[in-house]
Amino acid sequence: MRNSIPLHDLKQEHHSLADELCRNLGRVIGSGKFVLGPELAAFESELARYLGLSHVLGVNSGTDALLLGLKALGIGPGDEVITTPFTFFATAGAIVQTGATPVFADIEPRTLCLSAETCKAAITGRTKAVLLVHIFGHCTDVNRFLELCSQHDLVLVEDAAQAIGSSWQSRRLGSFGQVSAFSFYPTKNLAALGDGGAIATSNPEIAREIRLLRSHGRDENGHYISWGHNSRLDEIQAAFLRTKLNRLDSDNALRRALAVRYDEALSSLVRIVRGADGCESNYHQYGILTPKRDELRRFLADNGVETGCYYRNPVHYEPILAGKRPKLPVAEQACCEILTLPIRPSLTDSEQKKVISLVRHFFSRND
Ligand SMILES: Cc1ncc(COP(=O)(O)O)c(C=O)c1O
Repeated sequence: MRNSIPLHDLKQEHHSLADELCRNLGRVIGSGKFVLGPELAAFESELARYLGLSHVLGVNSGTDALLLGLKALGIGPGDEVITTPFTFFATAGAIVQTGATPVFADIEPRTLCLSAETCKAAITGRTKAVLLVHIFGHCTDVNRFLELCSQHDLVLVEDAAQAIGSSWQSRRLGSFGQVSAFSFYPTKNLAALGDGGAIATSNPEIAREIRLLRSHGRDENGHYISWGHNSRLDEIQAAFLRTKLNRLDSDNALRRALAVRYDEALSSLVRIVRGADGCESNYHQYGILTPKRDELRRFLADNGVETGCYYRNPVHYEPILAGKRPKLPVAEQACCEILTLPIRPSLTDSEQKKVISLVRHFFSRND
């Protein structure tokens, strides 16, 4: 059956923006500047203001934001970085690309974010950083990680790829780590029309290092002083993102309103993934947990509702990383039970009612 209620509807969501995006494109073409020009500079300062930080640097993707951010902190061969196995593969991939070793610790059953206890137990003499992933836009108690990192002299890095516009105790996620990575992949809450990412930091020396790393190690005088990459957010994407940043808060508010309605309707039937008290999530995904996940997913698909299964496997099960598999029971169970429901800003009232009534119907038949 065709999905009458898709998980994402990027065509529909760009409809009302198309004229403005076309004007942005015309402005960039007219400027004749396509890389490291005025649109990127303006977007970087607008996003820095939004996050309450002094430096934002646009790069090719969220993956590069993690990689360059970790490298700018000096993380490399011989270092260990503790992170969650319940994430997109890029989190671990970026650690490995620096030459460091990812060390996976278990997650919390409610937030599905890294647990501070299991993280603490995984610290060794080689641990250099904790890479906290705000999965689905939710966060755990960030203060506990700030304390843990300061007690053990570790660097805190935030993978905020899914969490733009979320906050912890009224302060934006992405403003706690020494560096933070954002993704503008087309399905993200702040989405480019292609790949894109950004690194945020309040440290001017780290910002300078990232500026070098994203442009082949070339300094302000045109000399190559370190080994770098070619990873810049281009002018066209930066211009699109400036328009979309203006709508981010209202889009996130729509997602939160949808989440409240799902919560009210479904909390007696399934476990709902949510942030710790003090987290205001951007609801990048609306996740539910049920042992009947596969049957429910099939039933919804048969009735035209597309759902997501992020993530079917914990990252440490992937063949390239599966050399020694630690036992991480909470993450392993979450991967068997997770299902994400449509929560895009374009989801209509009647579409959401249909999703809710189908989920209810499924559980009334399967009790
Ligand atoms: C948690 C997480 N980290 C990193 C990334 C990588 O971002 P990108 O796809 O922009 O490289 C993503 C994107 O899906 C993500 O969800």
